[in-house]
Amino acid sequence: MSKIAKNTAFKKAGLWVLFLLLPGNYIQAQTAMVNVESRHLSSLNGEWQVILDPTRIGEWKQVWLEKKPKSKTDFVEYSFDGGPMLKVPGDFNSQLPELTYLEGIVWYKKVFHYKSTTEKRLFLHFGSVNYLADIYLNGEKIGSHEGGFTPFQFEITDKVKEGQNTLIVKADNQRLQNGLPGTGYDWFNFGGITREVNLIETGKIFIEDYSVQLKKGSLNKVLGWVQLNGSNVKQKIKLKIPELNKTYKTESDNKGHASIAFDSNLKLWSPENPKLYKVIIESETDTIVDTIGFRCIEVQGSKVLLNKKEIFFKGVNIHEENPNKGTRAYSKEDALLLLNSAKELGCNLVRLAHYPHNENMIKEAEKLGLMVWNELPIYQHIQFSDSLVPKKMETMLKEMIHRDRNRCGVVIWSLSNETYPGTANRTSALIELTKKCRVLDSTRLINHVINTQSYTNNAFNVSDPLYEYSDLICINEYIGWYIPWQGKPSDVKWKFAYPDKPVFISEFGAEALYGSNEGPTDEASGWTEEYQKQVYIDQLEMFKTIPNLCGISPWLLFDYKSLGRMNQVYQKGYNRKGLLSEKGEKKKAWYIMNEYYKKR
Ligand code: GCU
Repeated sequence: MSKIAKNTAFKKAGLWVLFLLLPGNYIQAQTAMVNVESRHLSSLNGEWQVILDPTRIGEWKQVWLEKKPKSKTDFVEYSFDGGPMLKVPGDFNSQLPELTYLEGIVWYKKVFHYKSTTEKRLFLHFGSVNYLADIYLNGEKIGSHEGGFTPFQFEITDKVKEGQNTLIVKADNQRLQNGLPGTGYDWFNFGGITREVNLIETGKIFIEDYSVQLKKGSLNKVLGWVQLNGSNVKQKIKLKIPELNKTYKTESDNKGHASIAFDSNLKLWSPENPKLYKVIIESETDTIVDTIGFRCIEVQGSKVLLNKKEIFFKGVNIHEENPNKGTRAYSKEDALLLLNSAKELGCNLVRLAHYPHNENMIKEAEKLGLMVWNELPIYQHIQFSDSLVPKKMETMLKEMIHRDRNRCGVVIWSLSNETYPGTANRTSALIELTKKCRVLDSTRLINHVINTQSYTNNAFNVSDPLYEYSDLICINEYIGWYIPWQGKPSDVKWKFAYPDKPVFISEFGAEALYGSNEGPTDEASGWTEEYQKQVYIDQLEMFKTIPNLCGISPWLLFDYKSLGRMNQVYQKGYNRKGLLSEKGEKKKAWYIMNEYYKKR
């Protein structure tokens, strides 16, 4: 090849590499296989070496190459050696004082050993990385992922080496204008490898995904499917429920897809009786074990039915934060702390705000008999007219549904919170997303939450084009806190654009600093418990005026970190709308809610 041609080729190659490094041109990760814990895992959790990169220069230095000096005059101005270690899983902000407020890059490094065998495939699986992740194996970029709250994976069968391998992850929790969420949100932006990292070894052909749930509207018809990966030949498939002595046989087609449909006399899952079955799915080359509950959630007219009986959602909002530690929650212990507190309050539902929480929350909620409201971080100001945003929303939707579709506790997919009808492309983009959600999973309720309802002359007027496509009318309202009452709570009037749909008050409440009981109790600026308690008394009084009320969910269970809350006497960087302080101290309003739920 001539010198000119070589140069041109090099330039093209160089441009290609540059193109890949541009933000937004991420090599997409694969949608993760389901039920990781049932698979052949090698955990990569534990201590990882890190390089802190607050000036974002590590990319230019290409730290993933881990260059070494080549001559006596050579030197390299970065190294993982000599640096700090961080625990994975876990947000990086809470692990080092110098990272407390970082919204930027930390480079993580883990060395692992692997003994490859010809008939195995190997995957690298992340529970989540907030917010952007670039993944390098042995100095080569294997891919990227955007989104801080859903799992992703890469197949590394052909990239992993015999013996020692070096994995480097660039975790970047910078806020993106066209991110999900965007740049403004009322929670702490915990960054890093926030959930587990695993190597997953499978056979050449394995069970990648499956759905086993009751058919919509049925109490005894199980409907579902199994999807094999790596197979274009038919395989015999068995689904077993040992407790029922049930073995259902089917066969996959030449795309690896097998259908499931059978009648069965199942004990149904409910908050009072959270019955779960051991379910075994066998192909000719793989076996997966899951624990699955069966229930039917549906809307009938203005009512919500669980297993054909009307249900009232006694909810509470929860952020993914261990209140006592002030860290991103991720473990089973964190989940049990939050969920047991919701049970003690008297809840039968938890709204996991405002993004998909870790799998421990979903699985432990199901065992405790707590229904789950699962939500995408399509929160307030989103750049719906950015060309990348619709695809990002669809990818995040798929990642959330893929992971949780077999969790019967999940009864609601919530696709947005407090977006604004006036934002360009918002309504059409969210209608599109709602339709895609129904195709992916028609068995659950689908919601959008708004707070743009009008409240004038002590009357609400609730309307939004998204409600035509939503199963429930969900609104956040803070009358008595952000908006003073305009009359008696018992005199409030309501007008709904869709008067026949069930209504869910998905947020209400007020702030109080636990123990703040001095000074006038009728002034909000004292952050007193009495003031918060009165807001709750008035709100519960108002709820009696709402037609078709199917549920409520106070904002929120625990005080939590949010740096925009800057009143340094009362808030100190915390949103104080918790019914409990971050130390778990019950405020007076907690007892009002507890009494209400006990009587409901
Ligand atoms: C909003 C929003 C929450 C926020 C809350 C508040 O409704 O959905 O994320 O924290 O109000 O202002 O405390």
